Amino acid sequence: MPANPAPLTARRNGPLAGRARVPGDKSISIRALILGALAVGETRVEGLLEGEDVLCTAAAMRALGAHVANDNGVWRLKGFGVGGGLEPRDVLDLGNSGTAARLLTGILASHPFTSFMTGDASLRSRPMKRVMEPLQRMGARFAGRDGGRMPLAVLGSDELVPIEYRLPMASAQVKSCILLAGLNTAGETTVVEPEATRDHTERMLRHFGAEVRVAPSEGGGKRITIVGWPELKGRDIVVPGDPSSAAFAVVAAAIRPGSDIVVENVGVNPLRTGLYVTLKEMGADLVFENQRDVGGEPVADLHVRGGSLKGVDVPPERAPTMIDEYPILAVAAACAAGKTRMLGLAELRAKESDRLSSVAAGLAANGVPHEIEADSLIVNGTGSAPAGGGLVKTHLDHRIAMSFLVLGLGSRQPVAIDDGQPIDTSFPGFTTLMAGLGAPIEAEGQA
Ligand code: S3P
Repeated sequence: MPANPAPLTARRNGPLAGRARVPGDKSISIRALILGALAVGETRVEGLLEGEDVLCTAAAMRALGAHVANDNGVWRLKGFGVGGGLEPRDVLDLGNSGTAARLLTGILASHPFTSFMTGDASLRSRPMKRVMEPLQRMGARFAGRDGGRMPLAVLGSDELVPIEYRLPMASAQVKSCILLAGLNTAGETTVVEPEATRDHTERMLRHFGAEVRVAPSEGGGKRITIVGWPELKGRDIVVPGDPSSAAFAVVAAAIRPGSDIVVENVGVNPLRTGLYVTLKEMGADLVFENQRDVGGEPVADLHVRGGSLKGVDVPPERAPTMIDEYPILAVAAACAAGKTRMLGLAELRAKESDRLSSVAAGLAANGVPHEIEADSLIVNGTGSAPAGGGLVKTHLDHRIAMSFLVLGLGSRQPVAIDDGQPIDTSFPGFTTLMAGLGAPIEAEGQA
């Protein structure tokens, strides 16, 4: 917990109404800064998420020699080119960001110097072996704490060998790390992913001029190949709103009968929309309006009206498309009628907190009946407002913080969280946006 935690409380109010825009997509923002730094010439990024995870990425790219400036909300980068990064003079601090840490490891490992990475208490507890292992096969070396945890020293090389690597877990971060290491590696580096995960890296690499080939893999899934040593050219990028951030307002409205809101300009890449598919199956009145393409990513305005939801089974193969949305889905499930069974959630244990445990503890504190069975979470909704009244520990996890505040907007008693500061990692302005929709969230003492 930080030195000065900022507790917040959410309580039930009238239905939600209005239109809102959530900040830019975190995954796309981080990739835009990394690829802009690896490109030659100027990259302009509009709609960049100015959250802490992204600002840590910007600082890391500057430390490697890129010029990164915020010009009245338009971010401009002048990159150093593939393989042209400089040895950072200090430890790179990636804050709370697993994505920045994992993707950056691929860049650092493919440069001929030693660099050091660390992060906050949450990030220092998260597994890095998943990226160290394939990079070691390519020829990089590491020194880390027990279990390959940060602080981590990366002993890189510009003579890595290309590999073909089958992902042992569905992880876009691991896939992206290897593809980025493949940029400064001679020949073709291939990642085989048995289950499709978000493909923002592949899309953006192509946008910057790299050759990325995607083919079906023999055992099922995809083979993704990057051809090494491309010349990446600076590009313009427009970042859509983050579907993982929009999820909080959408669920808050869906569980409150009479609500009617539109969240505008949200990315709806099919590899990110599992929550929305699930909410529709639960009976939510949710429509993707004004569907369009923005900078190579599908975008829509999400129109949701509140009503009643019913419990459903969420199959394990849907997990990669909604991996960050299980905490907020658990909140929807708590307000639905009947059992919601969320299957195959092992990866939730490797997030900003052990999200299976954090979600279960938050549900328990607020009188929501649930069970964990192996890697599955089962929530028994009664169809009426949950009790609420609990204090939830956020464990430096932004999505736990926002999810349980949304629970407070739908429960009989207010819900408090011990610290709202982690929200700034992905969603600066969250409480202001929710207030604008008629959902007040207040600092402890004001509630
Ligand atoms: C992300 C991938 C996911 C997700 C994270 C962002 C990305 O992590 O949980 O918030 O931008 O690639 P994993 O790759 O570990 O599943």
